[in-house]
Amino acid sequence: MSNYQSEIERRRTFAIISHPDAGKTTLTEKFLLYGGAIAQAGAVKGKKNTRAATSDWMEIEKQRGISVTSSVMQFQYEGFCINILDTPGHQDFSEDTYRTLMAADSAVMVIDAAKGVEAQTRKLFKVCAMRDIPIFTFINKMDREARDSFELLEELEKELGIETYPVNWPIGCGKDFQGVYDRGSRKIIHFTSNGGARAATATEVELGDPNLDGLIGERLHRQLADEIELLDGAAAEFDLDRVRHGSLSPVFFGSALTNFGVEPFLEHFLQMTTAPLPRHSTDGMIDSMDDAFSAFVFKIQANMNKAHRDRIAFLRVCSGRFEADKEVYHVQGGKKIKLSRPQQLMAAEREIIEEAYAGDIIGVFDPGIFSIGDTLCAPGKKFQFDPIPTFAPEHFRRVRSLDTMKRKQFLKGMEQIAQEGAIQIFKAPYTGMEEVIVGVVGTLQFDVLEYRLKSEYGVDLYMEGLPYEYLRWITADDGEPVKEEDLILGTDVKLVEDYKGNQLLLFGSQWAVNWTQERNPSLTFSEFGGAVS
Ligand code: G4P
Repeated sequence: MSNYQSEIERRRTFAIISHPDAGKTTLTEKFLLYGGAIAQAGAVKGKKNTRAATSDWMEIEKQRGISVTSSVMQFQYEGFCINILDTPGHQDFSEDTYRTLMAADSAVMVIDAAKGVEAQTRKLFKVCAMRDIPIFTFINKMDREARDSFELLEELEKELGIETYPVNWPIGCGKDFQGVYDRGSRKIIHFTSNGGARAATATEVELGDPNLDGLIGERLHRQLADEIELLDGAAAEFDLDRVRHGSLSPVFFGSALTNFGVEPFLEHFLQMTTAPLPRHSTDGMIDSMDDAFSAFVFKIQANMNKAHRDRIAFLRVCSGRFEADKEVYHVQGGKKIKLSRPQQLMAAEREIIEEAYAGDIIGVFDPGIFSIGDTLCAPGKKFQFDPIPTFAPEHFRRVRSLDTMKRKQFLKGMEQIAQEGAIQIFKAPYTGMEEVIVGVVGTLQFDVLEYRLKSEYGVDLYMEGLPYEYLRWITADDGEPVKEEDLILGTDVKLVEDYKGNQLLLFGSQWAVNWTQERNPSLTFSEFGGAVS
């Protein structure tokens, strides 16, 4: 195996998803600690809070002290080179969060053991499932009171429609938490809390150890024996192939905060996942081990420096090796280019790099030539990777310029920002260009839009909330454009078009989506649109 192939072989690129507060940051931090990428706990969180003061990211980020971007972190662990893609939550949840998942080969889903499946987990899971990528579940906070483990698994299976395979099984929870039983080795990893919730030590004990009653208590020992019997009899068989195709999720129980179960999780995860996966393209599947370089743009971050109106394009390297001084071919632009200032992110630091391999994520300076989904490949090749879908926004506003004289700047700004993929713009039939309907995945994007139009284009916006929450791209059976008068629509449904002429319906409720679908059987509804821009 050549040097670049062994570099690719040892790479693992995954996204970490959760509902806010389930413990995603804490778990990420523990991974980084193992890999020696950070020296102390709190470094990731600390950066999240203080980064605004030290970086030159957009003003709005400084004002609010939050991050509008998703970050990527690379670290080394036992010979593996691991890229973690963080998916932002809370107010900074946006379409970027979804797009980040397009760059990953697998996902780690963190669930709060007291809460189970929550709204944001559901949304992110849907996007992972769309690509059939492997999903690993970490049920966190077992050192606190938790819901019944069987009930949690049942909920995962029912709500998300994926089968689960518990790799380990918890013994008690909260004050009674004694550790986990590892089903593969049939050993108990015993948890000892070290001074409150901050750290734990783990010791391994055989299931048949005569001292087990003394260690975990007679009651929990009996309960464990019953549960093991139930699990072995009723749960799905372990099938690595199904894990790798995303139809079976290995489940792990633990506690990120006390560092219990994190390292075994990481080790199982690294064994079960594969090196960077092949990707679909117009030339068929492109294997990560191909010696020719290829990559696609999955995210564009605008305005890192306001004075220059510059942008950074984030690339997922899909095959071969990227070398900073070599030319690459930008397929959509039809030009050979040299990527300028290639950089990688380590925790929140950025560093200029000379090379990167399939599986890696790099940021490059974008003078305004890239769009989301663009392909870059070695000169001589011209294939394109599958486009990145657009995701259904959930918040809509009617937007126009306060000053009618600024119509041109208004449209230019709206189109530019839509092209970066931060917002989606639509128009209602028979309305002029003075007004657009803006759809976003997270409401913070409205603030970003308002701020950027004012500061970059000198346009003050008038925005009015619209009572829609659901959007579906529609196509008619005969492939012809749909006419409003031919549809049966309720009063809380609106027909609009995106700027590529695709037709969509906006709805006030899920109920209205179902009602409309039932009454218009000739329409196909889709939650994901075509390519961005
Ligand atoms: P997020 O990134 O998914 O939003 O979650 P984050 O890691 O920030 O964790 C949310 C809260 O849950 C934090 O508490 C964190 O310490 C706590 N937490 C995470 N994992 C565990 C766990 O295994 N057990 C327990 N008991 N708590 C856990 P916080 O009070 O909001 O922040 P902090 O003051 O602890 O930093």
